[in-house]
Amino acid sequence: MSLYLQLYGQLRTAILSGRLRPGAKLPSTRTLAEELAIARNTVMGAYEQLLAEGYLEGETGSGTYVARTLPDVVLAAPAVRLSAQVKSSTAPLSRRGQSLGRSRLGVRFSDPPKPFRPGIPALDHFPFALWSRLLAKYWRREPAGLLPYTDPAGYQPLRQAIAQYVTAARAVRCDPEQILIVSGAQQALDLAARLLLDSGDEMWMEDPGYTGARAAFIAAGVKPVPVPIDDDGLDISIGERLAPKARLAYVTPSHQYPTGVVMSLSRRLELLRWAERRRSWILEDDYDSEYRYASRPVASLQGLDKSGAVIYCGTFSKVLFPSLRLGYMVVPARLVDAFRNAKAVVDRHCPTVEQAVLAEFIAEGHLARHIRRMRMLYLERKHVLLDCLRRELAGAVEVRSHEAGMHVVGWLQKGSRDSVVSHRAQELGIEAPALTAYRDRPGGRGGLILGYAAYSEQQIREAVKRLAMALDA
Ligand SMILES: Cc1ncc(COP(=O)(O)O)c(C=O)c1O
Repeated sequence: MSLYLQLYGQLRTAILSGRLRPGAKLPSTRTLAEELAIARNTVMGAYEQLLAEGYLEGETGSGTYVARTLPDVVLAAPAVRLSAQVKSSTAPLSRRGQSLGRSRLGVRFSDPPKPFRPGIPALDHFPFALWSRLLAKYWRREPAGLLPYTDPAGYQPLRQAIAQYVTAARAVRCDPEQILIVSGAQQALDLAARLLLDSGDEMWMEDPGYTGARAAFIAAGVKPVPVPIDDDGLDISIGERLAPKARLAYVTPSHQYPTGVVMSLSRRLELLRWAERRRSWILEDDYDSEYRYASRPVASLQGLDKSGAVIYCGTFSKVLFPSLRLGYMVVPARLVDAFRNAKAVVDRHCPTVEQAVLAEFIAEGHLARHIRRMRMLYLERKHVLLDCLRRELAGAVEVRSHEAGMHVVGWLQKGSRDSVVSHRAQELGIEAPALTAYRDRPGGRGGLILGYAAYSEQQIREAVKRLAMALDA
């Protein structure tokens, strides 16, 4: 906290608690500044703030006094701390508020990423100069036209650029009107859960699966029913048995999160037939499909959909950087207005200047170039990781699907408890989230999620050594 705010707060508390009586004369700003060995301007700032708020009175030159007219209620009120006020409140949260407020989604992101936290791109390889040049170009032009409230669906040139990109790169079928710019895939999941499902509805959730998606459904009052993943992806026949009335299936078909399985074509077609037959929705989360190393990226499920059951979402968190908070949805034409209106209620729209910069970044081919470069870098980093795991941890950790994405699952030997290993790894200074944390049902083979995209070869080598220690212990 700044010195000025600290001084302001201390004087205010002294007045409210009666330690400084009404009418008491305060030292001059010069004297107090000397006594406290701080700048006189700082003291003047605090005095002026208290004068403006009515705690002090007086005029420059003739001295400053504690206000004589402080209302009794202010003086009588004990100086309570904010935390104590919150604790003493007995009003309950709403039921919705309880499930929303219980989510622990953001907890582990308070400190900087370290190996092997997944889902983080190589941030030190971001084209900083290019991005700042584009940003500066917009601001230099004094973009008054970009500053008012605007279309909740997003900045039109960005919607166009994304429509072209997903059509070419992901075989998505859409026109720009179907694109909705959102603040990351998380908002797409939240909007879809709230707009498509009612409280109490059941939906199919991949198990293991993305905790962010599960949290969004639970917050919307929806019941996620865990459906197991096998080597072909989500097992539809089990889903039909466990939750025959499910109104939505959440899937990551290009690269299942976190196992890395690619959903087979026959499963994709089976899922689409199920949605059509049951008039249910499919929410396709295509979060990191850009990174495929052995072959071309697998085409989207949305591109195969003939009945308009698929809501597709993508994000720039993995190809650019997570704090950009820009992502997109492709929604069936008949839902565009509903999603646009809902987006306006939630947060009006995403920041326009950043959208404009991103639109230009894509249109000028920088995005495609950056992705190509990152694909090569991540491939090298993945090789280093696999190589180290083979040398240091052969027999203890097995890697199966690794042809895509930014992380692998290090499967542990049967009976090994991943949460225990993960905890030990944390004590040794590395992050290796346990697969169990992504499971809804107990049991199943343990594993560790090992993100590699964001970390240098050196970091990866050292982190694998520590992982070996965690597994040995
Ligand atoms: C499966 C999955 N979906 C989506 C996201 C990205 O979310 P956002 O775009 O909100 O950053 C992630 C990030 O970790 C993810 O793993």
